[in-house]
Amino acid sequence: MSDETKNARDHAMERCRERRITIPTIAQLRNPSAIPTAIQTRMPALDMQDPNPLNLFRIGWHNDPTTGGFGPVNALEIPSELSGVPARIVGLVGRYFPTGAHKVGAAFGCLVPRLVSGQFDPTRHKAVWPSTGNYCRGGVFDSALLGCKSLAILPEGMSRERFDWLRSMGAEIIATPGSESNVKEIFDACWEIRKTQPDAVIFNQFEEFGNYLWHFGVTGPAAEEAFRALAGPRSRLAAWVGATGSAGTLAAGDYLKGASSGCTITAAEALQCPTLLACGFGAHRIEGIGDKHVPWIHNVRATDLVTAIDDEATMRLFRVFNEPAGREALLRRGVPYDLVGRLPLLGISSICNLLAAIKTARHFELDAADFVLTCFTDSAALYQTRLAELTAERGEYTDRQAEADIERFLLGATTDHLRELTYPDRKAIHNLKYFTWVEQQGRTVDELGALWSTAFWTDLQGQLPSWDEAIEAFNEEAGGRGPGSGVQAEAGP
Ligand SMILES: Cc1ncc(COP(=O)(O)O)c(C=O)c1O
Repeated sequence: MSDETKNARDHAMERCRERRITIPTIAQLRNPSAIPTAIQTRMPALDMQDPNPLNLFRIGWHNDPTTGGFGPVNALEIPSELSGVPARIVGLVGRYFPTGAHKVGAAFGCLVPRLVSGQFDPTRHKAVWPSTGNYCRGGVFDSALLGCKSLAILPEGMSRERFDWLRSMGAEIIATPGSESNVKEIFDACWEIRKTQPDAVIFNQFEEFGNYLWHFGVTGPAAEEAFRALAGPRSRLAAWVGATGSAGTLAAGDYLKGASSGCTITAAEALQCPTLLACGFGAHRIEGIGDKHVPWIHNVRATDLVTAIDDEATMRLFRVFNEPAGREALLRRGVPYDLVGRLPLLGISSICNLLAAIKTARHFELDAADFVLTCFTDSAALYQTRLAELTAERGEYTDRQAEADIERFLLGATTDHLRELTYPDRKAIHNLKYFTWVEQQGRTVDELGALWSTAFWTDLQGQLPSWDEAIEAFNEEAGGRGPGSGVQAEAGP
């Protein structure tokens, strides 16, 4: 370890000591029963959105919104009355993460390995979070918990809720031109920061393998747990479906393929920006996904199906799930009352995932023994202004409109705009990475070539245990106590 690295790590430990921070291991985030009881008993009294370091332990899928403690994985099954397919579609619910979205986990995965290994000095460095919204909110939250300075970069066209929240956290913000799919502009802002701010450390979610590994180590096992909780003796884990922004969430599929042979992976994107499906580009309204490039961390060789979802379908169904006329129409059709009350757990990209899950089920003709797992990344709470905009633009939502939207966009979801990938298809998508990553972002052809190797990904996945060892050693040295004792976190900040 160089002197600089050792100093940075010492500073990080000092910071954690001062703030009484214990960093959770991936094993604890995956399975909260491994969290020391001293910490578990303190959680119910702590608000989930508080910038209190104990909330680091909530960067997982088991937060019980009723008790404030930990419970089973948060998941919601979408029954056939709603999906129109016999397959069982189950979405992990991101609403109950701090910040209301699962991206806080991807940010944890990028920041923590660098913090505990002396590659990020919280007393000197500024953490920079390039994002289309939720990732930078997660990064700002994690930085606040760990006592680091942070800078959020996001397109100016993202929802007002995101900007309001970032301001409320006192974050420094750079708003880049454009909206959802303008990621090149975000990358350009990063290059500018590299030139002008030597103390900035950029956590680029699109290329940081910490993003991939957090999902592989936490989201994948959570999906498996949700499946096992519902599965019968003949059940089959048939597919993982994820709309791709940074492609981090797709890594859960890599885990599930290892856990259940025959599991396929569907990558979804917006029809208005079908980069994987058709080398396409364009602007769209599914916030959080579809950025006109193939992320560096996308394990393309493991992706089986690509499908594009019309953003108009997601916006219409967003109204169905959130407007009184839409909910009444669903109740009339026999969708259970309790489920209708929970549909606001789906944000716009969650609806995209639901539609992609339906298409996957239709394409493979899945039956009632088959489970399609996906992710309801964030909830309607982050898009109330979008609802108001739709009303202003199109008028009040009516019964007639709701009936038409359910028939056309939900029950009428077909296998259009979908391709099951052949080997050459996968290779073509992999090759697309060249234009962003080698031509623009300074990667080499050899590095790109390495990503095509299956061994690259299995070696990467094999790094997870060493992460936990590094976190435990860090906690032990910072606190002078046994690993995972939780004593540091006893007093809170
Ligand atoms: C709302 C929303 N949905 C989906 C995604 C895509 O997830 P991933 O970046 O893991 O591909 C994001 C990413 O920021 C998001 O914010």
